[in-house]
Amino acid sequence: MEKSYQKLIAGNAKFSQQKKLSDPEYFKKLSLGQKPDYLWIGCSDSRVPANEVTNTESGEIFVHRNIANVVVHTDLNLLSVLEYAVTILEVKHVIVCGHYGCGGIRASLDNKMYGYVDNWLRNIKDVYYKYSQELEQINDFDKKADRLTELNVIEQVRNLAKTTIVQKAWKLRPLHLHGWVYGINSGLITELKVIRNETEDLEKIYRFNI
Ligand code: CO
Repeated sequence: MEKSYQKLIAGNAKFSQQKKLSDPEYFKKLSLGQKPDYLWIGCSDSRVPANEVTNTESGEIFVHRNIANVVVHTDLNLLSVLEYAVTILEVKHVIVCGHYGCGGIRASLDNKMYGYVDNWLRNIKDVYYKYSQELEQINDFDKKADRLTELNVIEQVRNLAKTTIVQKAWKLRPLHLHGWVYGINSGLITELKVIRNETEDLEKIYRFNI
């Protein structure tokens, strides 16, 4: 137990040393502030670390993660991150990145009770219900989960577009929304076709007069 915890502190010392070795000013520059171009909304899964899978550095991506990368319009945490990223940091891109083999997606596909998370997974069950006609044609469980992973990303990007935060930004400047799926078994990201960066792609009831 003790040893496994020490590994993180030792790893940090190594990280700090290596960064300073390649650029003595590395941390000094980072301490001046952040101006990331991207907001990443991803899954909490330990196998999908935003910086590592995109080969980016500290300071490049503002990150929000939760189980199965869900965008819930009553989630104060998500809304606070989104507003800060869009209006203060002025990120140019917001990425929702799901991943194949997602435990949250798989759990939402069965009828077991897992606990508090069942309320969270309800959001994904609602995506399933919306696309049940398509999903019920797929008999293989893994394939069904993979497709639900994609549809979930598509719907979560739509949820972003429905927020006043994104719609207000669209009135002022370009803000690009992206839907990606990361393959844990390939290490590769696939881009999905998601809502474009204009309010006209939203059903009228979701459009605000801004
Ligand atoms: Co996941």
